[in-house]
Amino acid sequence: MSFPNHRPRRLRTTPAMRRLTAENRLAPADLILPAFIREGLTEPSPISSMPGVVQHTTESLKRAAAEAVELGVGGIMLFGVPAVRDAQGTASLDPEGVLNKAIRDVKAEVGDDLVIMGDVCLDEFTDHGHCGVLDSEGYVDNDATLEIYGRMAVAQADAGAHVLGPSGMMDGQIAVIRQALEESGHKNTAVLAYAAKYASAFYGPFREAVDSQLKGDRRTYQMDAANRREAILEVELDLEEGADMVMVKPAMSYLDILADVAAMSPVPVSAYQISGEYAMIEAAAANGWIDRRGAITESVLGIKRAGADTVLTYWASELAGWLKES
Ligand code: PBG
Repeated sequence: MSFPNHRPRRLRTTPAMRRLTAENRLAPADLILPAFIREGLTEPSPISSMPGVVQHTTESLKRAAAEAVELGVGGIMLFGVPAVRDAQGTASLDPEGVLNKAIRDVKAEVGDDLVIMGDVCLDEFTDHGHCGVLDSEGYVDNDATLEIYGRMAVAQADAGAHVLGPSGMMDGQIAVIRQALEESGHKNTAVLAYAAKYASAFYGPFREAVDSQLKGDRRTYQMDAANRREAILEVELDLEEGADMVMVKPAMSYLDILADVAAMSPVPVSAYQISGEYAMIEAAAANGWIDRRGAITESVLGIKRAGADTVLTYWASELAGWLKES
């Protein structure tokens, strides 16, 4: 194995040679578009820390979903921003609530041509901004939250979601949701478990996107950035509980975790390139410090190379358009 028998540069000589020998490829179908809908909006509302991303109206959401289908995007993950919040996140259970209605509207628009996913979590719906309900000491009450997640899951499945994405990191959430789905006749509604979700500073812009009421942090339920082995435990538990797919989140600061999970997971692995990752690249590109299209493409390809089968990214439709043209 030595020079000059081996000259790795031979396979880099032309674009066609590099294309032929690429170990990994991005395809529009790998991409999942996260999208926000806000109750009561008459015009789409820009999110200042996520330039190019908006809180949708019903109409603009339907257009974004139709465009995603046109571009061959694999799926859409919906987040709702309700007009009214309370301590229990009650609006999450209302069939006419913002998220359940959005699922129904998107389903009516695109049918089964796009995999429609709903966020199963209470943080957008609670007036304290936590992903679950609180006990008398203000601690997020795991088991009381599970009971609500089960009902929320059924409401989203009733609305027509193909996949549910529980993102609250409560212990046992996959089991409870699976059981609720089976008992309500939704045996084919799949669960994409946010299995290894870390407490991250990079969620900042998302909090603006959903008008989060959170004070403090989520460190009693989301994972600690210091931990690697624990991600395997979280994935194993979710698989035992019936997860159909598993996710690592965030993506770029957790590529080691993603590679570990991809090596052991018998089910498809997702990674979520989150709001702060989006914001960083957009901000640097807006300053002319990096090439926007190159940086976006490389960042998502890196996530795929680390082991993701599918990637949630706010650039899903734009990137799919680039992939289609090349
Ligand atoms: C919680 C949830 C969050 C994100 C997705 N689901 C926020 C959090 O955990 O604080 C973040 C996504 C992003 O930052 O792009 N329902």
